[in-house]
Order: sequence, then structure tokens, then C-alpha cells
Amino acid sequence: MALVTTKKMFEMAYKNGYAIGAFNVNNMEITQGIVAAIAEEKAPLILQISRGAREYAKMSYLKAIIDVAVAENPDIPICMHLDHGDTIEICKQCVDDGFTSVMIDASHHPFEENVRITKEVVKYAHAHGVVVEAELGQLGGIEEDVVGVDDVSAHLTDPAQAQTFVEKTGCDSLAVAVGTSHGAYKFKSEPKIAFDVIEKIQRRLPGFPLVMHGASSVLKEFKDLINKYGGKMPDAMGVPEEAISRAAKMAVCKVNIDTDLRMALTAKIRQVFAEKPGEFDPRKYLGPGREAIKQMVKHKLHVLGCAGKAAECL
Ligand code: G3H
Ligand code: 13P
Ligand code: ZN
Repeated sequence: MALVTTKKMFEMAYKNGYAIGAFNVNNMEITQGIVAAIAEEKAPLILQISRGAREYAKMSYLKAIIDVAVAENPDIPICMHLDHGDTIEICKQCVDDGFTSVMIDASHHPFEENVRITKEVVKYAHAHGVVVEAELGQLGGIEEDVVGVDDVSAHLTDPAQAQTFVEKTGCDSLAVAVGTSHGAYKFKSEPKIAFDVIEKIQRRLPGFPLVMHGASSVLKEFKDLINKYGGKMPDAMGVPEEAISRAAKMAVCKVNIDTDLRMALTAKIRQVFAEKPGEFDPRKYLGPGREAIKQMVKHKLHVLGCAGKAAECL
């Protein structure tokens, strides 16, 4: 089957209390690791591409890799999504390039400007059968000045504003700031997720899918391997997986994961280099990295509750 939008996935995820994993792809090995996992677990999938990924790998290469994944898995719904599109132009370009979902992230603009930009993307995307994720509130990491939960809490999504925003823009899903942030250093002390904010938004917008960005867990296994084999990430801390599972049972229908992929790949490459300093065949270190991604994603699909749900999302 061809690439799909997130419409049916979100409908089923909301109704049945799970979330779809949205994994960032930057090259063939990362994509293959993710796709091997969803094929074995029979899970619906969102493959997302950032502007940085487009610049690094070239859209034509990434699209060709994803086309193969789609062709080889006809029983699995796969969506190709633009992650953090920051201008109307890039969103339109991605619609034209065959994406089935785009994110317009105009959250750094004042509210009315965010509405205006998002509305224009929605108009263009919907006319082409493409769905739109928007963002309200400020996540850490990408917004450089907002890092760590103490700062992030000042920028949480306002539930009343979220309702107005969705009604005014007609967006299909909304990325909300609920205490998570991008990257490997999300919390300075105990992780805190604002479940009350999710609940309040859910009450105002029943049935409407929310998106959790910055949702990597910074898995101990990979953090330890990185630190053991010459890396230096002692203070890395992610979102506890129990919190992800809890959000997935609520209105959160899409959970974004990139850092955990990066750490799995990096950990295995570091391990191979440390244990076999003479190794210079890329297949011998990218291969274990790809396998680590596959096993990590398989595990995540159970945390999200979407393993075995491919058929109902078709
Ligand atoms: O949201 C951020 C994702 O991890 C993508 O990161 O812009 O470095 O590709 P990137
Ligand atoms: P992580 O950095 O937590 O993996 O978040 C990724 C993300 O939100 C991509 O949009
Ligand atoms: Zn993000």
C-alpha cells in the first residue's frame, strides 16, 4: 500500500488508548532498524524527517529508502511526516514532495501569528490530502534558551489557548509543551510531566490527538555503554517510560523519538570501536548499531501500546 496519513492511526490510538511511535530518520541504517522492528511487531509507523535530515541525506535518498520500506510492508500503515517545519514554504515543499503529514512549528511566534501561519499550511496541505501537526507552547532543546524542566515549566501549553488555536486553525493534531524537551538532557533533577495540562486540554478538545515531542527515555543500557566506551554523557536524563505509557493512554496519540535512536547507534559503534580497535569496515559497526535500534524500537512499541495494532489502523 502507499504511504498513509495519520488520520486512521490517531482515531484508533485515541479510541483504544495507545500512541503511535514517530521515529526520526536520517539514513538507511536508522530507517531499516525501525522498519524491521515494526514489521516484526506489526505496529503502525510514522517516519519523520527534520529539516536537518533533509539537508544531511537529501530528500530524494530518504524518500527512496522509505518507498522501499512501504513496498516491502504492505500490511503496515506508514506515514511520512515533516518534523518541525519552521516556514510555510518548507511545509508546502514537503506536501509537493509526497509527505502525507507535515508539522508547522510556528510556536516561537506570537499566538496570532502562529494561528495565521498554521492556517495557511492547513489550507494548502488539506487541499492536497495531507494532514497537519501544529505546535503551541515552547519545548526545550530546539528553542535554545529553554532547557531543563525548571525553565520549561514556564512555557507549558495553556489549555484554553490550545482550544482556541485548534478551532481557529483547523490543524489535525497539536504538539503540546508538557514538561518534555528535546535531546539527552531533559531534567536536572526528578522528571516531571504535566499530566494535569494534558487532562485539561483533553477535556476541552475531546477526541483531538495530541503529540508529545522530546519523548526519548535516555535508556540506561545505551547511556552506560556510551559512558563505558569513551563517551561522556553522565548527566543525560530522559522521560521515564511509565510516563510515556501513561500519556499514551490519554490524548497523546503520537510520541516523538530521536535521541534514543541516536544513543543506541552511538553506543554500539563506540562498543565495536573499543573492543575491536582495528575494525574499519562500516558494516561491522553500522550493522550492530542497526540491530540495537531494531531491538530498542521493538521495546518502545510495547511501551506505547501500539504493537500488534497495524491492521486496525489500515
Ligand atoms: O526535534 C528534533 C529532532 O531530534 C530532529 O533533530 O533537527 O537535529 O534533525 P535535527
Ligand atoms: P527526543 O530528543 O526526546 O528524541 O525528541 C525528538 C523529537 O521531539 C523530534 O521532534
Ligand atoms: Zn520535536
